[in-house]
Amino acid sequence: MIKKCLYPVAGYGTRFLPATKSMAKEMLPIVDKPLIQYAVKEAMDAGLIQQAFVTGRTKRSIEDHFDISYELESEIKGSAKETQLQEIRDIRDNCVFTYTRQPEMKGLGHAILTGEPMIGDEPFGVILADDLCITEGDPVMAQMVGLYKQFRCSIVAIEEVPKEETRKYGVIAGTQLQEDLFKVSDMVEKPAPEDAPSNLAIIGRYILTPDIFDYIRNTPPGTNGEVQITDALLAQARNGCVMAYKFKGKRFDCGSLHGFVEATNYCYEKFHDPSE
Ligand code: G1P
Repeated sequence: MIKKCLYPVAGYGTRFLPATKSMAKEMLPIVDKPLIQYAVKEAMDAGLIQQAFVTGRTKRSIEDHFDISYELESEIKGSAKETQLQEIRDIRDNCVFTYTRQPEMKGLGHAILTGEPMIGDEPFGVILADDLCITEGDPVMAQMVGLYKQFRCSIVAIEEVPKEETRKYGVIAGTQLQEDLFKVSDMVEKPAPEDAPSNLAIIGRYILTPDIFDYIRNTPPGTNGEVQITDALLAQARNGCVMAYKFKGKRFDCGSLHGFVEATNYCYEKFHDPSE
């Protein structure tokens, strides 16, 4: 039912300089797989097979990653190394990819609006590849698609964070409907702890209904002078319904050095075959 997933990947990744000087931060690997591949796999496993990227200068490697590399394919044909390409081949065979450029960085809301021509008039997922989510059961996007079928409105994934960290996130307040589900009544982008309406922080997984584009168009620049998706979602919540879902799983903030190293260690322990 939801077929498209949007990836805002135009950001510079300055926290990883100099590594990201000429390289996309989304191509940084956790163990042996780039962050963006974890994101696309998560979407594909949730049935979102049309991948739409809002990209920018220095991000060509993302397009190349999801394209065929004839030279490499013929070089390793028949060797044991082929298994390392299995997942990316699978993604390539089962998904379609579209790209558009965001020439100027004007915030996450603006990035999502830039993707409108690739999405059109249908509900869609958004994944911020910086937030790597590892789950035991269904991936987070699949959990959210299940909820969308029930509620048919925009949904944000949330998790509890220490109150002193609210400045890093969009923070929600709402009516608790179930242990893991809230109907949003307030949302603030990167509040100081004393201004935060709760400690429930939005993480980089969204399902958005297409009317969000009009809300974004009517959203003036907010925190940091940027057009914030959080502000557009608050307007949508006030006029209709937005849900916040405490997902099942573990999230790593791979946009920070600490989270990146933590994710690397975790994934190495969990997924790596020690005999390799
Ligand atoms: C963005 C959103 C913020 C959200 C966060 C999740 O912020 O604006 O609401 O909590 O992603 O990672 P960014 O991390 O891009 O500054």
